Amino acid sequence: MSIAEAPSRTEMDESIRHITDHAERIMTWNYDRDRAQLVTLYNKAMASQWNSVTDLDWSIDVDPERLVTERPSGVQRIVAEATTIPGSPISSWGEKELTQAGIEFLKASLSQFMHGEQGAMMTAAKIVETVPWIDAKYYASTQTMDEARHTEVFAKYLHEKLGEAYPMNPFLDAQIMALLEDSRWDIAYLGMQIVIESLALAAFGDMLRRTEEPLLRKLLRYVMADEARHVAFGIISLGEYYEHLSEAELKERQEFMLDNTLRSRSRSTTPEVWERLGVDVEAVVPYLLEAAGNLELSPQASFQRGFFAKLVPNTRKLGLLDANDGYLRKKWGEAGLMEFEFADDTATDYEQYDAVAQDRAAADT
Ligand SMILES: [Fe+2]
Ligand SMILES: [Fe+2]
Repeated sequence: MSIAEAPSRTEMDESIRHITDHAERIMTWNYDRDRAQLVTLYNKAMASQWNSVTDLDWSIDVDPERLVTERPSGVQRIVAEATTIPGSPISSWGEKELTQAGIEFLKASLSQFMHGEQGAMMTAAKIVETVPWIDAKYYASTQTMDEARHTEVFAKYLHEKLGEAYPMNPFLDAQIMALLEDSRWDIAYLGMQIVIESLALAAFGDMLRRTEEPLLRKLLRYVMADEARHVAFGIISLGEYYEHLSEAELKERQEFMLDNTLRSRSRSTTPEVWERLGVDVEAVVPYLLEAAGNLELSPQASFQRGFFAKLVPNTRKLGLLDANDGYLRKKWGEAGLMEFEFADDTATDYEQYDAVAQDRAAADT
């Protein structure tokens, strides 16, 4: 690029964000490998690295219409139902418009995956700098690479197969920026490895169940293989750290979990999608709510279940349910979340998620 073509200052400012991190960076002179579980996890991470260029077949031709008509998502079903309600601003819609809307909703989801992955890359890099243990610094370095690959593959899938991405959703944006700015090193871990990674595993799993498209399927399986290790990394590290915190300090972490679950459940109006479809979002929302009621369907329901099925058991392992006389157990119990206490075990079953190792073993036989 010549100087004349260089982006102006304003163009550059529009495409970057300045973030001030309040956490201290830490170097350690203790190189002893005394955290056996982290050593195992780090070795596993090195063995299961995959290559975004050669392990995925980017020559696969993706038909976006087919992608969204095979197994419509909850949101697509609600939108279809909303076209049948008298007075609805989308009552003139037919198959063509519904398919187009399905494609836009899929692009919106994949765009949030992409932005979330960049947030994960930044958070993992922050952990490298702020965690006091050498084994954790090593592991977080492999995670930083994993998240770079995830950001890259979602960006590439969108760009090459589907079209223009959507901007970062304000809820996700606020959630990730708070982690990157926080002065406490463990909060970046708790927010990313436990909350957002559990959310991501549920969201990727949800999409994987709905798609037959081979490139997207393999991409999601490989990304999930990495994410399961990231959650395990959080549980192993924070489990140790939280054993030594006071009840008052644990209370702060319990409050953090409440803020990031019960208090931020309403996260998904997607005004940009409706804008691109040329529909007034204010006008369509009441019909979407009515449609969801007619179908007895919450667009978030299955995904929320998947999320809490991962989050609640993982939180139990950190000792956060029962500290302060079971403060979090009571609050989550009132919200009906304790049924998930023993639902899933990502701390030890990351082997089972390892699609990369499974594919390689199959290729060798
Ligand atoms: Fe990731
Ligand atoms: Fe991750």
